[in-house]
Amino acid sequence: MRVTETLPPLGEPARAYLEGGPIGHWIDGGRVESASGATLSVHDPATADQICEVAEGGAAEVDAAVAAARGAFVNGWRDLAPHRRAGLIYALADQIKQNLQELAELESLDNGKPIAYARGDVLASVAHLRYFAGWPTKIEGATLPVSAPDTLCYTRREPIGVCGQIIPWNFPLLMAAWKIAPALASGCTIVLKPAEQTPLTALRLGELAQQAGIPDGVINVVAGAGATGAALVDHPDVNKIAFTGSTAVGREIAAKCGAALKRVTLELGGKSPNIILPDADLEVAVKGAFRAIYFNSGQACNAGSRLFVPAANFDSVIEQLATRAATTKLGHGLDSTTELGPLVSAEQRQRVLGYIEAGKADGAEVVVGGTANAEAGDGYFVAPTVFSGADDSMSIVREEIFGPVLVALPYESIEEVATRANDTEYGLAAGVWTRDISNAHRLAAKLDAGSVYINCWGVGDPSAPFGGFKASGIGREMGAQNLDAYLETKSVWAKL
Ligand code: NAI
Ligand code: MG
Repeated sequence: MRVTETLPPLGEPARAYLEGGPIGHWIDGGRVESASGATLSVHDPATADQICEVAEGGAAEVDAAVAAARGAFVNGWRDLAPHRRAGLIYALADQIKQNLQELAELESLDNGKPIAYARGDVLASVAHLRYFAGWPTKIEGATLPVSAPDTLCYTRREPIGVCGQIIPWNFPLLMAAWKIAPALASGCTIVLKPAEQTPLTALRLGELAQQAGIPDGVINVVAGAGATGAALVDHPDVNKIAFTGSTAVGREIAAKCGAALKRVTLELGGKSPNIILPDADLEVAVKGAFRAIYFNSGQACNAGSRLFVPAANFDSVIEQLATRAATTKLGHGLDSTTELGPLVSAEQRQRVLGYIEAGKADGAEVVVGGTANAEAGDGYFVAPTVFSGADDSMSIVREEIFGPVLVALPYESIEEVATRANDTEYGLAAGVWTRDISNAHRLAAKLDAGSVYINCWGVGDPSAPFGGFKASGIGREMGAQNLDAYLETKSVWAKL
């Protein structure tokens, strides 16, 4: 199948890539079809039209990719001089930057996000790789003050080996960069499995890595759905799994890795509280709260999905949010006037609409939105939605919806709000809007969350650790701490 006639114009590089399909896996430095001939259909979420097909990997492709990664690990990557590994990671960042427009178009078309945000994701991926390119020359062991006489003891930090990396569809290229950058910097090799909904940019990384001069087999990309991911998790020659996605699949992967004693890091879901304190600049807080939930159409693990508002300000805040929501322009990601794209898939739209129905059935009130957007044709759109009148036991307050659905909750006191904010199985992010510096930092210390945003939301930097407390995950990505997930420590003893 070809790119449909009705698509907004794509640049020539993106069009050529899609029209060359079905797009194969990237294994050991080349494009590979599946032995079974199986393919996955990739859709434009704004129209439900098929964009192209990609190969769907099975055990045979996972096996070939793991073998390639093992070969590349043993035969060079782990022992490459640190400054050369650094240079190659910088070169990959440069390749991504040089292909910014193509990658942004592919990402927008595949995921549905507005092109300006897709460009932002590509640039954030470049920044991520550049940050980690600085690390190979700075990974140090220590000389230890052991008490045994005439004994030298020192530690070496060694790469774990072959890493299976499984990523979701909400930030396809950026999640790939978050995964591969620390692994490459540590001297590990990679089998990456993009989400079945959004495989296009991750697969494209294959050629870009090769053009950057990264040896074949260091980065392999196998497309496929859950079964392909499971084959990677189960593979006995994979040393470590890094996963971002649903909490349900994360639990399953953690159990398997536990049994096999594989290293594992998990970035999972959230139900993050966003707290407006009575003294906040309300205009700034409302604008921030709006972005916190509707950014990426609510498909962000750190979406600010529970908004706590002082009871005295509740009606005014709700009204401002509803006005903003009602005037937000939904549309195709490649239309530069679009403010909010569709959800990624029909399945995701159904899941989100199901939560909206459950909220209504439980007695909560839809202030604005609450429907699939009828004018949008077959696209997977859901109108930005605000609920009020919910209580803390409802599923719309407790479960991750992963769509443009905000639940606004009134509160009376700071003590009450801190307790309610933490009353969730998750702990990924939290926000506080206030002009009182003491309350801001007191609350930051009390909230059970891997990231706390004060008078902002969702800011990040490659140097700042990101990850979850409680059911939001295990381990941290980004920052120096991320290297720990890809390194083993060896103590070397010598009798002098
Ligand atoms: P998912 O967890 O099923 O998929 C994420 C990735 O895991 C994809 O690459 C998928 O192919 C892979 N996968 C699925 N089953 C697997 C298995 N058994 N073994 C190994 N890999 C497997 O997420 P899904 O179904 O796309 O979305 C469901 C919900 O998960 C969303 O509504 C949202 O609440 C949450 N989610 C959270 C994300 C986050 O960033 N924390 C990202 C995506 C989804
Ligand atoms: Mg799933």
